[in-house]
Amino acid sequence: MYFPIYRPRRLRANPTIRRMVRETRLSVDNFIYPLFVCPGEGVKKEISSMPGNYQFSIDMLLKEMEEVESLGIPGVILFGIPEHKDELGSEAYDDQGIIQRAIRAIKSTASQVQVITDVCLCEYTSHGHCGIIQGEKILNDPTLELLAREAVSHARAGADMVAPSDMMDGRIGVVREALDHEGFEETPIMAYSVKYASAFYGPFRDAAESPPQFGDRQSYQMDAANVREAIREADQDIQEGADLIMVKPALPYLDIIRLMREEFDYPLAAYNVSGEYAMIKAADQLGWIDGPRVMMETLLSIKRAGADLILTYFAKEAAQLL
Ligand code: PBG
Repeated sequence: MYFPIYRPRRLRANPTIRRMVRETRLSVDNFIYPLFVCPGEGVKKEISSMPGNYQFSIDMLLKEMEEVESLGIPGVILFGIPEHKDELGSEAYDDQGIIQRAIRAIKSTASQVQVITDVCLCEYTSHGHCGIIQGEKILNDPTLELLAREAVSHARAGADMVAPSDMMDGRIGVVREALDHEGFEETPIMAYSVKYASAFYGPFRDAAESPPQFGDRQSYQMDAANVREAIREADQDIQEGADLIMVKPALPYLDIIRLMREEFDYPLAAYNVSGEYAMIKAADQLGWIDGPRVMMETLLSIKRAGADLILTYFAKEAAQLL
């Protein structure tokens, strides 16, 4: 009679042995927590499609930062909801803009948390697109200069890292050059290199009040069907000076995360986006899944696929469980 020589269950017998042979470990060190900053005072407004996440005015943001730091979360990424939006998204690169003021406020505290800023125009433009428009066209090259100004303005306010998310061609090179020219050659760039045109960004657009007012983002963000193109995008960003690369969204693109891990020896981030968060929260609220366990399994899967860093709205909750 055949008897198995290899019995995998031997190493699953109890929690201790499982712990000893575990291949992947999530750590709070892997987390970057996205935060939304809005005008006003004393504002902490829950985002309806993202329970447990809020728009914060700067004073409340500082309180939140203390909590983030006490949980050991090493980085945050800031998104701004400006006072005024206009065609050219001018508050994005205004030294008195919402993000610039938020960075200065954080940097005036003793916080050691790394402050990363999202560099994009869509939160600041009246039309909600990530670039300058002409009719219904999103112009590439004229947008680059504004993105460069935005990145420099963030660095000048004290940002530790900038993260261009606009998906205009050539932006990493232009941002790198502008930062270097202004004396910020030590400010790293985390490039949203492989950013797909995804339906999973829905709740974020509620949070950042940034939905496109016409059309969609398919003429600049990547087509969900493409894999080889992801390699070209990341390769180009690295050549232009990206220090870290990112895949976004995470869960529906675990194959792409794995591919990036194999192709590039650069720190790799993955963005567990708003829609991924909202689905788990909604199912949890309905009692259909065990929310905390699904959260941890999801984050682990992103790490296992090859991500070093995970941008996630679960950062605080997961840090508490770890
Ligand atoms: C800005 C930006 C978006 C997200 C991050 N940066 C929105 C978009 O591209 O439409 C989405 C993040 C999320 O869904 O959690 N361009």
